[in-house]
Amino acid sequence: MAPAAIDPSIVDVAEPRKDSLDLPKNARERLEKSGVDLSNGYPYRPSRPLYLDDVYRIRDYDRAHVDPGTRADPEKKALLSAAKDVIHLTKHIGTEIVGLQLKDLTDEQKDELGLLIAERSVVFFRDQDISPQQQKKLGEWYGEVEVHPQVAQVPGIPGVTVLWPALQATEFPASFRRPGGASRWHSDLVHERQPAGVTHLHNDTIPSIGGDTLWASGYAAYEKLSPAFRQIIDGRTAIYRSAHPYLDRKNPEAGPKYVEREHPLVRVHPATGWKALWVNRAMTDRIVGLDKAESDVILGYLYDVYEKNVDIQVRFKWSPRTSALWDNRITIHNASWDYEGAEPRHGTRVTALAEKPFFDPSAKSRREALGVLGSDEVEELKRLNLKE
Ligand code: SIN
Repeated sequence: MAPAAIDPSIVDVAEPRKDSLDLPKNARERLEKSGVDLSNGYPYRPSRPLYLDDVYRIRDYDRAHVDPGTRADPEKKALLSAAKDVIHLTKHIGTEIVGLQLKDLTDEQKDELGLLIAERSVVFFRDQDISPQQQKKLGEWYGEVEVHPQVAQVPGIPGVTVLWPALQATEFPASFRRPGGASRWHSDLVHERQPAGVTHLHNDTIPSIGGDTLWASGYAAYEKLSPAFRQIIDGRTAIYRSAHPYLDRKNPEAGPKYVEREHPLVRVHPATGWKALWVNRAMTDRIVGLDKAESDVILGYLYDVYEKNVDIQVRFKWSPRTSALWDNRITIHNASWDYEGAEPRHGTRVTALAEKPFFDPSAKSRREALGVLGSDEVEELKRLNLKE
């Protein structure tokens, strides 16, 4: 019998696949220690939706979201003073916290971590002893945990998805030239009515060489644009689409279609108040109100700025049992598949959904708010009467 769907009206496409991959040793030990029932196979695969309207109905309502970072002490003393070390990995993005266990954070520290993620975009913790259940509990602090209608999950813990590229490759073949999956620049769940905020990926197993993940800063990508160009995209909206396609119930012959939602192209983070470019090549489809050719040119340029400036990126080398927490509102990420599946990589991921994206014309960019603009940038802003 097929496992239950997250929405009872969802019709399964097919009997779920029976997977026969061997669980990597670290993953098995972690899951068994956490009391996860592996007797019915691993991972758990929810019933897959066939029709677009079923997927549109999932979470199709407004939810209140108070961002934990807005409650935090701006100096983040409870978190930072408890850490053995705080290492900023690059100037603009990425911080590693040493000597703290995520599962033991106090409520005050969790709020401060929310603010740190909002400021630094991605925060890493090595040598973590964290069960999938504790990971879900931490995720709930940052917003409603997304339960995906079709991706593999840890049995008995809806919302904790399984990130196991070898498993994914059994369904969508991957190769050196076409790595697929998470090996492209993207951010998570942009088609949701209230898209993803903080994602927490805990990798218990990583290859001995490779399998790094890269993140790029949306705050900094926005600031790479000239102030005059920023004025063109500020306040505009675009159509964002789902990663998975579905069929139109009334017109299935039309072929696969995506869930689409309209959101701002530049958004403001509620905890920092800073503007960020919010596009990704995989899932931003078109800018509203422009001809397709115009939209394609502008989006192509924005993707290039975001993806190609190495000074606004961090490339992280994992070690087993490392957690990364990143903010999808202000980043794109890309997982390198250079190990080509030759060694296992396995992790569990929890994504907290955040507020309805918003734009505020009076918000500042990150560098302006921090007072670190170069004199050339100040001159450009003055020329446009954007600065005293
Ligand atoms: C993801 O795209 O969410 C996963 C990134 C990774 O596996 O490093």
